[in-house]
Amino acid sequence: MELIMRNMFQSLGKSRSANRLAKKYGLRFGAARFVAGETIAQSIAAVRSLNQSGRVATLDHLGEFVFSEEEALESAAMCLQTLDAIAESHVTSNLSLKMTSLGLDISKELCMQSMRRILDRAKQYGNFVRIDMEDYAHCQVSLDIYRELRQEYDNVGIVIQAYLYRTEQDIADLGAIGANLRLVKGAYKESPSVAFPEKSDVDKNYVNIIQKHLLGGHYTAVASHDKAIIDFTKDFVKQHGISNDQFEFQMLYGICDDLQNQLVKEGYRVRVYVPYGVDWFGYFMRRLAERPANVWFVLKNMFK
Ligand code: FDA
Repeated sequence: MELIMRNMFQSLGKSRSANRLAKKYGLRFGAARFVAGETIAQSIAAVRSLNQSGRVATLDHLGEFVFSEEEALESAAMCLQTLDAIAESHVTSNLSLKMTSLGLDISKELCMQSMRRILDRAKQYGNFVRIDMEDYAHCQVSLDIYRELRQEYDNVGIVIQAYLYRTEQDIADLGAIGANLRLVKGAYKESPSVAFPEKSDVDKNYVNIIQKHLLGGHYTAVASHDKAIIDFTKDFVKQHGISNDQFEFQMLYGICDDLQNQLVKEGYRVRVYVPYGVDWFGYFMRRLAERPANVWFVLKNMFK
């Protein structure tokens, strides 16, 4: 049953018509638990409140299914506006983005041009930009672009997914260029030909890459709500004398709030991923797919 629901949410998240419909009707079905709002002002207010509780943030302007150059440039403009808003409001947040929203599926050049504009603006503010990792089809091109940009910018990082077989090699290659990485389990539906189908194997690989990147002396964001992974990281850094400045924990907006606050109290840096925008549906579906139990929460909100 859980697998059926997981597949259903993953497919719905990829449906262009469902995404378009959702965009028209605004945040629904309790999506506001996971999405900070539809406007920049709402997202900045959410970040301010997180900052007040000692957490930092990474803001993501949601945008999926970008197929025209015009939409891609609009998306890039929103990233620039988000960086401006962070600077103007003096909140503590960096920026996360998806390169498909910048037109990666239209042309690599278009995407690179926007990435350079965004990274220049971030640099001007002393800020940092994280490239989210999308599905496997975009993995190699995302890493190629990252490597190219990394030669010009030191304020850019990327995400690596523990569920991919290729990840161990990627960690070694990216370690060699001192990459700042966010390590995650992986959120997309992938074929067993490229990704571990068993959760236990994903978890094992996750622990493996956390150790490798930390021991390499590189900045590591452990982005997970999994208590066992978090406890492992805490023990590992203690055992190896790794400073709290070399890593951070990251979690998603609206998930495991108590754990986020607990980690702050213990003295760890906690960054919350704060998505916002009208294009909330695909993101919301991925969150439901990760934890089908969330569907009860959706149903409750539908009948409220
Ligand atoms: P796991 O799925 O094992 O969950 C552990 C526990 O966390 C669950 O038992 C539950 O208590 C809680 N939990 C997890 N997900 C929940 C949810 N949706 N609702 C409620 N509770 C939940 N992926 C990707 O492919 N590319 C990316 O760029 C990113 N970026 C990213 C940034 C940040 C800050 C985070 C935290 C995660 C991502 N991810 C991601 C998503 C990631 O790949 C993964 O799908 C989710 O984090 C869920 O996996 P966990 O590590 O939390 O463990």
